[in-house]
Amino acid sequence: MTATEIPTETADGSELPDDAASITIHPQSRTIGAELRGIDLTQSLSDEAIAVVRQALLDWKVLFFRDQDLATEHHLDFARRFGALEVHPFAPEKPGYPEVLAITHDDESPGYENLWHSDVTWRLAPSLGSVLRMLDGPELGGDTLFSDMYAAYDGLPQRIKDEVDGLVARHDFTGFRRKMIRRGATPEQVDEFNATYPNPEHPVIRTHPETGRKGIYVNAAFTQEILGISAERSAELLNILYTQAAYPEYQVRFSWQPNSIAFWDNRSCQHYAVSDYYPDRRRVERVTIIGDTPYYDASQQPAELPERPFRGVLKRWTDS
Ligand code: SIN
Repeated sequence: MTATEIPTETADGSELPDDAASITIHPQSRTIGAELRGIDLTQSLSDEAIAVVRQALLDWKVLFFRDQDLATEHHLDFARRFGALEVHPFAPEKPGYPEVLAITHDDESPGYENLWHSDVTWRLAPSLGSVLRMLDGPELGGDTLFSDMYAAYDGLPQRIKDEVDGLVARHDFTGFRRKMIRRGATPEQVDEFNATYPNPEHPVIRTHPETGRKGIYVNAAFTQEILGISAERSAELLNILYTQAAYPEYQVRFSWQPNSIAFWDNRSCQHYAVSDYYPDRRRVERVTIIGDTPYYDASQQPAELPERPFRGVLKRWTDS
């Protein structure tokens, strides 16, 4: 696909600054993933350049940047342009930088982010987006997959949409709790975490607060059950929705290189870090932008239709 042109002037007719006008957007699939070129994340970017990035994120759900030799401060400064940053209460942080999650896997710690998920949905206000920086990758493997939750929702048969629209699901930090207990946390410590991070209830289908589009917002890592229906139907529906998120037709796959960056919108996509490089080392750092409280609004219309609607054909549904 060809690169998307950035208009050289703003809506009011004034000229775009050079750092915004130089950006080009290179789609990596029909609906999800675009590489941004002509941008230097070590620079203090103009508001107009940030607006171009923000719009590209809304359009493409995950953005890729290559050859960005960032210091930790650049990483933090760039992410802060999109919102306040969270401190993760369970995962290891980079010494001296509480907002930087240090994710290292090697022969003693195989990768475990190989479950489809949106970040921190066990929070009452989960993440808007995450900016991940590759520090040290394996020679082979260690890619990350991203799945388009709008396209996955659009691809459901109408009867399933009718059933799941407006439902609510309970989320939990189960995996982190298990790890905490394995590392020797006392029942009192676990109780304290349970009280600080009570199970949030989020819509099964989320209306994106900026685009107005609807997307699947349950995930295999943190969602426990759909409320208000039988446990059996909850398990069946979650299985349908997780399977939907896992179809390659809705995905893009990113192969990391040193100094690659991925910036994804946790409100419109899920990701899966392929754990296929054991016992090699893979070292990344993630900065996570705080989002708002998820909601479902049946009446909210998308601001505009997607430029490139999903055109794949999935013939698994016999009644659609
Ligand atoms: C994550 O799940 O946030 C990490 C993704 C990755 O390491 O590629």
